[in-house]
Amino acid sequence: MSFPNHRPRRLRTTPAMRRLTAENRLAPADLILPAFIREGLTEPSPISSMPGVVQHTTDSLKRAAAEAVQLGVGGIMLFGVPAVRDAQGTASLDPDGVLNKAIRDVKAEVGDDLVIMGDVCLDEFTDHGHCGVLDAEGYVDNDATLEIYGKMAVAQADAGAHVLGPSGMMDGQIAVIRQALEESGHKNTAVLAYAAKYASAFYGPFREAVDSQLKGDRRTYQMDAANRREAILEVELDLEEGADMVMVKPAMSYLDILADVAAMSPVPVSAYQISGEYAMIEAAAANGWIDRRGAITESVLGIKRAGADTVLTYWASELAGWLKES
Ligand code: PBG
Repeated sequence: MSFPNHRPRRLRTTPAMRRLTAENRLAPADLILPAFIREGLTEPSPISSMPGVVQHTTDSLKRAAAEAVQLGVGGIMLFGVPAVRDAQGTASLDPDGVLNKAIRDVKAEVGDDLVIMGDVCLDEFTDHGHCGVLDAEGYVDNDATLEIYGKMAVAQADAGAHVLGPSGMMDGQIAVIRQALEESGHKNTAVLAYAAKYASAFYGPFREAVDSQLKGDRRTYQMDAANRREAILEVELDLEEGADMVMVKPAMSYLDILADVAAMSPVPVSAYQISGEYAMIEAAAANGWIDRRGAITESVLGIKRAGADTVLTYWASELAGWLKES
């Protein structure tokens, strides 16, 4: 093929021309804001490795949710930090536990104007910090964990979550959660499966955000960074089990995975721009090494271009504000 008269620069001449011919666009509705609430706080508490992100009080969480609605953000993903932990993560099932109460409070504040999502995972609730319960050898027990996930899902649906986000990478978790939801009358509660979630060094700041008790790593249940083909298997299994949406996580070091999943998925695809990705850009910007707004916008657009329909990002509200003004 030859295009002797083609000069690609013609379409780059003015901002209006570039806007008209852009292949991808970001919109506030594509963005999902992950938010942390910590039990017993009287003031929001800054997370030092995530400048600009806090552990919320009930009041500040409600304000953040209301602001997200104002800015047109698509959804909010809630993570709870309980005051008391145990080996089984019992506080995750308490209807008045920190996360279930937060879901109820946010629902009372914004109703159906924002898609409210809950993290279905035990790591914030266990005193050993793993995403599931341990067997006698200290190995994360898949099927014993599934039983708790089923109950957790019902508790979050009872609290009013529109979507559940199982992030623990237990085999069969989507099927168990779907069945628990059907049996408890929550037929319309959707499941966003963390389908291809990799064991990543970039989760570091999140561990501070949830006061994680984890020693060691999650390599026996999260995926190995070396694997690409396996992500398709994980997505297929979750689809077969009833996932309404699927996620790739992290985002920026896994854009090939995201493109593969977007090419085969019949359901909407999310990508999670995680805490370490946030921290890197904030740290470089704080040093004056990169332009903050430009780097944030480009990073999220790159995730969209690779195939994400929706992006979980700690910049969701700020970025939505920029998109509204431009
Ligand atoms: C597990 C969970 C994690 C993140 C979201 N859900 C931590 C982990 O898997 O270790 C990380 C998100 C981030 O780093 O921003 N409940």
